[in-house]
Formats: sequence, C-alpha cells, structure tokens
Amino acid sequence: MDKSKPALLVTGGAGFIGSNFVKYYTEKYPDKQVINIDKLTYASSLDYIASISTDNYTFIQGDITDAHFINQLFKSYFITGIINFAAESHVDRSIKNAEKFMTTNVHGAFNLINCAKNAWEKQGNLDKNRFHQISTDEVYGSLGATGMFEENTPYDPRNPYSASKASADLILKSFGYTYGMNVVISSCSNNYGPNQHKEKLIPTIISQALKRKSIPIYGDGMNIRDWLYVLDHCRAIDLIYHYADRLEKYNIGGNCEVTNISIAKKVCALLDDHPLTEKDGFIHEQLITYTEDRLGHDRRYAVDDSKLRKDLNWKQEVSLDEGLEKTVDWYVRKWKEKIH
Ligand SMILES: NC(=O)c1ccc[n+]([C@@H]2O[C@H](COP(=O)([O-])OP(=O)(O)OC[C@H]3O[C@@H](n4cnc5c(N)ncnc54)[C@H](O)[C@@H]3O)[C@@H](O)[C@H]2O)c1
Repeated sequence: MDKSKPALLVTGGAGFIGSNFVKYYTEKYPDKQVINIDKLTYASSLDYIASISTDNYTFIQGDITDAHFINQLFKSYFITGIINFAAESHVDRSIKNAEKFMTTNVHGAFNLINCAKNAWEKQGNLDKNRFHQISTDEVYGSLGATGMFEENTPYDPRNPYSASKASADLILKSFGYTYGMNVVISSCSNNYGPNQHKEKLIPTIISQALKRKSIPIYGDGMNIRDWLYVLDHCRAIDLIYHYADRLEKYNIGGNCEVTNISIAKKVCALLDDHPLTEKDGFIHEQLITYTEDRLGHDRRYAVDDSKLRKDLNWKQEVSLDEGLEKTVDWYVRKWKEKIH
C-alpha cells in the first residue's frame, strides 16, 4: 500500500457485513486503497477476509475506542474517508450486559470521529472527507401492524443495543452540524448472508438443524423483520458513501417483511432438499421450538427506503428466496466441510 495515496478506512471489516463490504469494494475498485481495522472480537473471523490480497489493501488489528491507535493510523496513512461498521451487534448480549455496547458503539464512534476531526482539520479537508456511519433500523423502535420507518421518524430505541446505535448517530450528526464535517448515516434492516456469526437467527436455525437439535424461536414467532441480502446492503453503502449529500440520512430496506417463524420454515425446507443433507426424509421443521420471548422484543420493523431508490437509483437485486438459497448453501458447505 502506498501510504501517501488516499485510503478509505473501514472499521469492523472482519465481521459479517464489514467483511462482505471489504470484499465487494476491493473487487469493484481494485485501484482504491482500503485499510481494514478490527478488534477481532468473538463475532469476527480472519477467514472471512483471507481471500482479499491486493496491494491496495491492508488489515490491522485494533480497537476504535483506542485514541492512540486511531491517531497513529491517521499519522501513518492518508485517510480520506471512513466507513464505521465496528460494533457490538447482538441484542441479546446487550440485554445481558450493556457495557461493551456503550464502550464500542457510543464511545468508539465518538473517538473515531474526534480523531478524524483533528486529522482532517490539519489536512484542510474537514468538510470534504466522508464519515459514513453504518446504523440500523432498530434506532426507530418498534412498529404496530402498519406504517414504516422513514428517515425523519423520531428515534425511539427499546434495547441497549439500539440505544447505543441511536446515541452514536446523534453524536456523529452533531459533528456534522458543529464542525461542518461530511457525515452521512445509513440505517439498514436485517441483513442475512455469508459470514454471519452463529448466534444470529438464520445461522442458528441452520446450525441447529444440521445437528438435528431444537431450533429456538422467540415467543410466538410472529415478530416481523424486513430482510435484505448483505450484498444489496453493500451496494447501497457504496452509493451512499460516494454520492449522498453531507448530513443526509438514508434508510435501506428489503421490502421484504417476514415473520421469524416463516424464515425458520423457509430455511428448514431448503435444508430438507439440500444435496449435502442426509436423504432420509427428515423434515427439519419439526425441530422448531418456541422459547420464552426476548425482553423488550420489538414486534415489527419495516423501513421506507424510497428516498434511496429515488435519489441514488438503488434497488435490491437479490430476492429473499434466492438469497436464502445462497445463504443456506454457504453455511451447509462451510459446516459440512468442517465436520469431514
Ligand atoms: N447485521 C445486521 O442485520 C445489521 C443491520 C443493520 C445495521 N447493522 C450494523 O452494521 C454494522 C456491522 O454489523 P454486523 O452484523 O456485521 O456485526 P458483527 O458483530 O458481525 O461485526 C462487527 C465487527 O466489529 C468488530 N468490533 C467490535 N468492537 C470493535 C472495536 N471496539 N474496535 C474495532 N472493531 C470492533 C468485531 O470484531 C466484528 O468484526 C454494525 O454497526 C451494526 O450495528 C447490522
């Protein structure tokens, strides 16, 4: 990597969405320089990024809450943009112990933009260099049977994870208004696809089903989420990072509201027919078990992403059926290969 040339700093790029994004971005823009930093928490894996090996890409283990580390990065590289994926991301863990969520998601985001502010002020590029925060639709709270979250829907987070993400958005926005920084925020619905940690809904369903153990579904299974294949999210981030106006906010959705129980049944049906699962007529759906509901479980999320479609001409390219098929196939191959 040429340290004198502009580079994009991606944080959390060894996690689920970050690793998919770094792979997508380095393939699409082989001439652009990318620095990927990640603390390498339990949710990450270097395997996810092992195949990325261009001269214009480098990975460094590090923590976004560490001001010394981030300042050193700015001294060593010519960073002209940041996309912040780094976060503690699992709602259940935030309910059990919220501290790390506040440290990484709130203080980490603040530290990153504060270090960027100091460095970019010296460069004279405070208003030009982009800071893109990867946020979530969960900042808006929970919906009833109708309605959708719009970009100007008031924030109403209901659990420590979503509260930490909402707090970060407000802090980052304030740096845009106060110091004139080039901040943009995108709030996406539930992602699915390769590289997601086993604790999340779809990987849990697949992993339990492959072991023929019970598949836990919270409450009555009727909680509704809007699902988006991770590569469609990456394409949206690419557009927003490059073309959104300063201080814009964009929702990214899947236009695909599905209950958790219906996701579980779809995944089970794909496993029944997958070429690598045993052909003994076993119906995986029978493993589904309803468990005690999550505390403060948001009932329904749905995002209106018409602004993104209209302003930046984005549309999702992967349907739920196609995306689930790819996803199930990826996990089955990964875990079957490990077993044998
Ligand atoms: N997964 C979703 O459905 C979804 C939807 C909308 C928004 N988001 C947001 O997208 C981002 C990525 O989510 P994900 O699902 O890929 O999460 P993830 O948990 O899979 O990955 C997060 C990554 O951040 C790294 N990380 C954690 N703390 C860090 C720190 N202090 N310093 C540096 N790196 C650190 C982890 O090691 C991990 O690699 C998060 O900000 C999340 O809030 C996720």
